[in-house]
Amino acid sequence: TQQDRYDHGYDFVVVANRLAVDRVTDEDGTTGWRRSPGGLVTALAPVMAESDGAWVGWHGAADEQLEPFDHADMHLVPVPLSGQEVEDYYEGFANATLWPLYHDVIARPEFHRHWFEAYRRVNRRFAEAAAAVAAEAATVWVQDYQLQLVPQMLRELRPDVTIGFFNHIPFPPPGLFSQLPWRHSVLRGVLGADLIGFQRESDARNFQQAVRHRLGHYIKSDRIHVPADSRATDEGSPLVGFDADPSRGTAARRLSAPTAEDGEHHIAEARAFPISIDTQKIVELAERPDIIARSQQIRRELGDPETVFLGVDRLDYTKGIRHRMKGYEELLQDGDLSVGQACLVQVASPSREGVESYRVLREEIEGTVGRINGEFDTLAHTAIRYLHHSYPVEEMVALYLAADVMLVTALRDGMNLVAKEYVAARKSGTGVLVLSEFTGAADQMRQALLINPHDVDELKAAMVTAATMDPAEARRRMRSLRRQVVSNNVQRWARDFLGRLADLKAAAR
Ligand code: G6P
Repeated sequence: TQQDRYDHGYDFVVVANRLAVDRVTDEDGTTGWRRSPGGLVTALAPVMAESDGAWVGWHGAADEQLEPFDHADMHLVPVPLSGQEVEDYYEGFANATLWPLYHDVIARPEFHRHWFEAYRRVNRRFAEAAAAVAAEAATVWVQDYQLQLVPQMLRELRPDVTIGFFNHIPFPPPGLFSQLPWRHSVLRGVLGADLIGFQRESDARNFQQAVRHRLGHYIKSDRIHVPADSRATDEGSPLVGFDADPSRGTAARRLSAPTAEDGEHHIAEARAFPISIDTQKIVELAERPDIIARSQQIRRELGDPETVFLGVDRLDYTKGIRHRMKGYEELLQDGDLSVGQACLVQVASPSREGVESYRVLREEIEGTVGRINGEFDTLAHTAIRYLHHSYPVEEMVALYLAADVMLVTALRDGMNLVAKEYVAARKSGTGVLVLSEFTGAADQMRQALLINPHDVDELKAAMVTAATMDPAEARRRMRSLRRQVVSNNVQRWARDFLGRLADLKAAAR
């Protein structure tokens, strides 16, 4: 029963900034919950159902305290945030400090001490909530950059549990990461985990280098030796003087293999586990007659252009939406493309509108769309069909089926699942993916047209190449891309990570 579970705790606990359900309001005004559509929830829901799982996360509203509840075979533990914490922890430290810093400083990160204080306080709240629901020797999986301090906090509260951490966004090169005034706290926070997952090999390498340079921990074959006293030396402590120069002092000593005198430590393994999508679900939707019919209707409503270009992104400065529009605009100016013959559909889903840089970006994009359309539209056709909405996955798949060319031009992206969804939907083998080399997906999707989005000429050339590609070559590339996405779905990602975590747990016994 519910009470038993409470007394005994849950064997598998996921901790994420967002809860696994969204609030929905019916037509008659009653509210309820619906399982979130994202890949992470899709992958973990079956694990939750099998293993007596709980999900700890924020339910998305400020100043609201909710009791834990069950929904869709999951036990949900809402973590409350005050309005001020939404500003300081979520919009501030998570999305105006860490987000831009971890995405190559595309926007300038802001460093405010009271933001970090709120981050620490909220991370502790998440750690305490997880500690309260985890069963003896449970497995706890902490997700993403919003919660980097949770692993260490949880290890202190509950030394019996096994802790995984997965960073869904890039981990920056050590030279950029070093800007963070709380870099040691963040590294130590993450290092509380037994297994630390990253999207790309290079993210795992960046993290290991930061740990080596800043903390001087010994690392061999992705295994970091974390001394139990590691957390005793925080920012502002005497060790800070040593850490910039690993050839001296304590830091240097730890660079050699630990010996018995080095005392208590645990191993934190840091390596890449590239995430993927619920491939089967996308493939099934792409075969549904009503969705195929909808995709044909979309093309008709756009005026049957020869080439439909598609962009699908959260409205975020990391996504390179401006670069994409610049390239497209120049192609229209040069006469390489013309309105009626080509159309760009840009879905920009609303995101983080409480953060200044997102509001500024929205104004810029909407100004650009207005300018381009004002110049190139005809009464019958539009240059850019801009949609500032989120859509259900059925409509997204219809759009994927309607699009001849998918444009993923992110300046930096942990993975980019849109690229994988597009490919999964193109069972016919037609369609071309233009993909930024600065996405995690580019490490795996080598048969896409890989581009540097900063190089406008290269981007333009790729758009033209994509629009005019010989169908046999397009099919050859798409077949190879699809093999990759079909054999590496998000279920396998979760299995790989949790399997490795279980191995480490068994070995530690
Ligand atoms: C990225 C992050 C997620 C985040 C999502 C949406 O994918 O890795 O952790 O949930 O963006 O952003 P939001 O701020 O709305 O949660």
